[in-house]
Amino acid sequence: MKILAYDRVEKPVLDQLKEKHDVLFFKNIDPSSDPEFLNALSEAEGIIGLALPVNQELLEKAPNLKIVSNVSVGYNNLDIPELTKRNIMATNTPGILTDTVADMAFGLILATARRIPELDYFVKSGQWTQSLTEEHYGVDVHHKKLGIIGMGRIGNAISQRAHFGFHMDILYHSRTRKLDAEEKYDATYKSLDDLLRESDFVCLITPLTKETEGMIGRREFQLMKDSAIFINASRGKTVVEQDLIDALKNNEIRAAGLDVFEQEPVEPDNELLIMKNVVTLPHIGSSSHETELKMSELAAENLEAGLSGRKPPNLLNPQVWEKLE
Ligand code: NAP
Ligand code: GLV
Repeated sequence: MKILAYDRVEKPVLDQLKEKHDVLFFKNIDPSSDPEFLNALSEAEGIIGLALPVNQELLEKAPNLKIVSNVSVGYNNLDIPELTKRNIMATNTPGILTDTVADMAFGLILATARRIPELDYFVKSGQWTQSLTEEHYGVDVHHKKLGIIGMGRIGNAISQRAHFGFHMDILYHSRTRKLDAEEKYDATYKSLDDLLRESDFVCLITPLTKETEGMIGRREFQLMKDSAIFINASRGKTVVEQDLIDALKNNEIRAAGLDVFEQEPVEPDNELLIMKNVVTLPHIGSSSHETELKMSELAAENLEAGLSGRKPPNLLNPQVWEKLE
């Protein structure tokens, strides 16, 4: 079968796919204009990859497509209604990356609170020449209030670390109550505004959807404590980035830890990059060696199932399967 693979599929998985299929791999190209990509798209029966924008425009050029297999849990790059209309299956990779992303989010909590990158630079650049003053102090993480927006798989895994490891009080906001998390982590459901008002750390980990786009902006930063630390591990566009910059400049919050940005890769002149109280990562939440491999393997399993007439384990649009059955 003809498969179009788009950055990122791990090499062992790509090699296995190549043994069985006619696979073309693309990286660092413009998918709207690269002639080789467009040619491969016109013949492709399956697509596997990360963050390829699969929309009406792309689908018009892919008449033979049966399945799009995302190598990520988030699927805001896929136009699901358009795929469903065309009877094309869409899949993602939930679950296997949950702990890895939670570790990273917790890393951002610790790094911002204890100013780890800033003080690492302080030591390495030879500025540690005399005894320290309160100017260099951070704030505690343990026993503080952590507000999780989006109590799904990753939100739960962050809560587990916070509750059992750091004795934090968990507040959460989701579309629905999570009685399981309330029982396991002693988590308390809050309206969004109450969560923002009460939390010492606000951690955003929802999917990017029409409802969550720009959900944290000027009003929300103003509701947060001046001492609050804001962590975004979801998608850049869930936050109005200019409002975050303003909130940091105006000392409306203490610090931010960011794995995601409105524009990725981030523009070099983005003001967030020169703020000492902002810790940045290059959208690397799930990118440990182990988890990247597992994600590629699961995405390949989804792809193989869809291409061979079996129901993919992580089908996002079951309506297509019902029609095929
Ligand atoms: P999940 O299990 O589906 O959890 C998402 C949670 O967000 C659900 O609890 C959902 O609430 C909640 N939610 C959705 N819309 C909401 C809204 N409008 N207001 C409040 N809560 C809302 O997904 P997951 O596996 O935890 O992943 C979550 C997201 O993390 C992904 O979609 C992706 O964008 C991001 N992510 C980022 C990285 C990274 O590298 N930084 C890696 C993996 C994932 P209900 O259950 O009540 O519907
Ligand atoms: C990564 O960002 C994912 O959604 O898996």
